[in-house]
Amino acid sequence: MAYEKTVGVIGGTGQLGSAIVRAWLTSGAVSPEKLWISNRSGRNTVFPEWDGINFSTDNRKLAGNCDCILLSVPPAHFNCVDIDAGDSLVLSVMAGVTIANMEAATGAKRVIRCMSSPAAELQLAYSVWCAGDGATVDDRETAQTLFAACGVADEVPDERQIDLFTAMTGPVPGFVAFYAKCMTDYAIKRGIDPAVADRAIRQLFLASGMIFSQSDPSPADHIREMIDYAGTTAAGLLAMENSSLYANIEAGLDAAFEKAQSIAK
Ligand SMILES: NC(=O)c1ccc[n+]([C@@H]2O[C@H](COP(=O)([O-])OP(=O)(O)OC[C@H]3O[C@@H](n4cnc5c(N)ncnc54)[C@H](OP(=O)(O)O)[C@@H]3O)[C@@H](O)[C@H]2O)c1
Repeated sequence: MAYEKTVGVIGGTGQLGSAIVRAWLTSGAVSPEKLWISNRSGRNTVFPEWDGINFSTDNRKLAGNCDCILLSVPPAHFNCVDIDAGDSLVLSVMAGVTIANMEAATGAKRVIRCMSSPAAELQLAYSVWCAGDGATVDDRETAQTLFAACGVADEVPDERQIDLFTAMTGPVPGFVAFYAKCMTDYAIKRGIDPAVADRAIRQLFLASGMIFSQSDPSPADHIREMIDYAGTTAAGLLAMENSSLYANIEAGLDAAFEKAQSIAK
């Protein structure tokens, strides 16, 4: 599905902003002529293969030309964005910046707070969005269209859940990299060539991700099935289940969630 109106990304040359822009252009969700990008530096080296994108270092000019404005600057820079959103829809992927903050700082009446990830570049992001009180049915459809073009997207009912997903699925590979490192280190310590260990674990995660995305059984279903099979994996899984691993992972995610809630304060 395509978004037919004009859309601008403030910070569209950054890591996340450029990944989202690339997903929109590649999928056809937004055409280059309908797209505006702004930054402070005027650095415009991110999308050389796309003609027709409107670039500016003037956020106000972008805002004045766009029906929908996506804010993708670091939370600490949000106060310098300086736009009057007027009647435009404002979307944001900034960690920790609340809908109330955005309404107050931009004058926007229609705000949707979102979270995505740089995996948008591959159209593999998981994105969530939460609509402010002034957002219309059309605005919700816009958010879903623009973020579904980046991968998979869901609406969530409250902003607290945006903070949870900022912690869990915002960074990619994020916490999955930690488990991959544990397994790679385990293999290397037991004499496996580091290059072989690295290749093996990357392939394990690729195959696991494909299986999760292409078949119905949940991770819990897979664990139950492997424990019921009573083979080597069952022995390891039972030892892990009887350890403090689960609680430690929860504590790590809690720390990330707390940081997500306080990052813009
Ligand atoms: N990267 C991630 O993995 C990730 C994941 C989830 C959420 N986020 C959120 O996404 C947002 C952007 O993060 P990022 O990692 O993409 O940051 P980044 O790579 O540092 O990019 C920031 C972008 O904002 C521009 N910018 C900064 N101040 C500006 C201003 N006053 N007006 C216009 N443009 C401005 C920068 O360009 P100039 O320097 O040229 O101005 C650059 O294009 C953050 O709020 C972050 O919380 C990021």
